[in-house]
Amino acid sequence: MDTGRLEQTALVLTNVRLSPVAVLLELRLPEMAAAARPGQFVMLANRRSYLRRPLAICGVNHDRRSLSVAMEAKGAGTRDLMELAHGDRITVLGPLGRGWRFSDFDAVIAVGGGTGVYALPTLLEAAQAARQNTICVLGFRERSRLVLEDRFRAAADTLLLVSELGGLDVTGNVLDGLRALDPRLLQRHAPERTLVACCGPAPMMRAVADWAAQQGFACQVSLEERMACGFGVCRTCACRVRTDDGWTYERVCHEGPVFDAADVIWEEDGDACEA
Ligand SMILES: Cc1cc2nc3c(=O)[nH]c(=O)nc-3n(C[C@H](O)[C@H](O)[C@H](O)COP(=O)(O)OP(=O)(O)OC[C@H]3O[C@@H](n4cnc5c(N)ncnc54)[C@H](O)[C@@H]3O)c2cc1C
Ligand code: FES
Repeated sequence: MDTGRLEQTALVLTNVRLSPVAVLLELRLPEMAAAARPGQFVMLANRRSYLRRPLAICGVNHDRRSLSVAMEAKGAGTRDLMELAHGDRITVLGPLGRGWRFSDFDAVIAVGGGTGVYALPTLLEAAQAARQNTICVLGFRERSRLVLEDRFRAAADTLLLVSELGGLDVTGNVLDGLRALDPRLLQRHAPERTLVACCGPAPMMRAVADWAAQQGFACQVSLEERMACGFGVCRTCACRVRTDDGWTYERVCHEGPVFDAADVIWEEDGDACEA
C-alpha cells in the first residue's frame, strides 16, 4: 500500500501534562483533523524504534486544524513521544482504522479504563452533537491518574468516575461503576437503541461486554493490539472474529480497532488476540 496519502509531517503545538504519568500532544495536521472520525487512530514515528506507535485520536480542533493524542509511558517509544516539545516535527500516519458506529443509537454509554479512556472523548462529543443521550463510566487506578475530567464532564450527560483505591465517585472497577448507575437512566431508551462503547484492558472489555449483553444493549469494543504497519499489510495485529460459518482473522488496524463485542473471540487469558 502507498502510505504517501496517509503520511503527514506534524508540527507539535503543545505538550500538556494531564497527570503524573500522562501527557497530551496537540499536533497541527490540517488534512487529518478534517478527515478524522471518532474511534480512529494515528501511528506516530519516534526516535527510539523503527516502528511507529499507535495512539487513539483523542481530540480534534477544527479552528486550530489540529488533532491531539494522549499517552502514558509504556516503553521507549512512548517515553520518546512524551518528550516532544512545541516546535518539534514528527511524521504521522492517519487517520487509520474503522471507528465507533454510533449513529443508529439513542444513547451511548462510554466505558473506559487505563489508556483506553483516550479513545472516548471524540465519541462522546460527536454523540452529544447528534443529540444522543451520553453516559460515561471511567476507571482509574487512583485519583491522581484522573485525566481530561473537564472534557468528559462537558460531553457526558452523566459521568461516573471510578477508582480502585478510592477518592472518586465509586471505589472498585468499572463494573462496579456500571452497577452503580441509576437503573432509570439505563431504561430511558429501548435496549437495542443503547450502545455500550468500551476501550481498556481486554479482561475489562470482556466483562463490560457480558454486562451489556445481560442488559440487551449493543456493545462495541476498541481493541489495543501491538501493531507494526498500522494499515493492513503486515498482519501483526490479527485477531479472531466470528463469522456465519465459524471464525476468521481480522486486522485490528484495518477492520478495527472497533469491533462488535459479540463478534470478538476472547482468548482464554482474557486477551482478544492470539500472541
Ligand atoms: C489502536 C490503538 C490505540 C492506542 N491508543 C493509545 C492511547 O491513546 N494512549 C496510550 O497511552 N496508548 C495507546 N495505545 C497503546 C500504545 O500504542 C502502546 O502503549 C505503545 O505502542 C507502546 O510502545 P512503547 O515503545 O512505549 O512500548 P514497548 O516497549 O513497545 O512495549 C512496552 C509494553 O507495552 C505493551 N504494548 C506494546 N504495544 C502495545 C499495544 N499496541 N497495546 C497494548 N500494549 C502494548 C508491551 O506488551 C509491553 O509490555 C494504543 C494502541 C492501539 C493498538
Ligand atoms: S499492524 Fe500491520 S496489518 Fe495491522
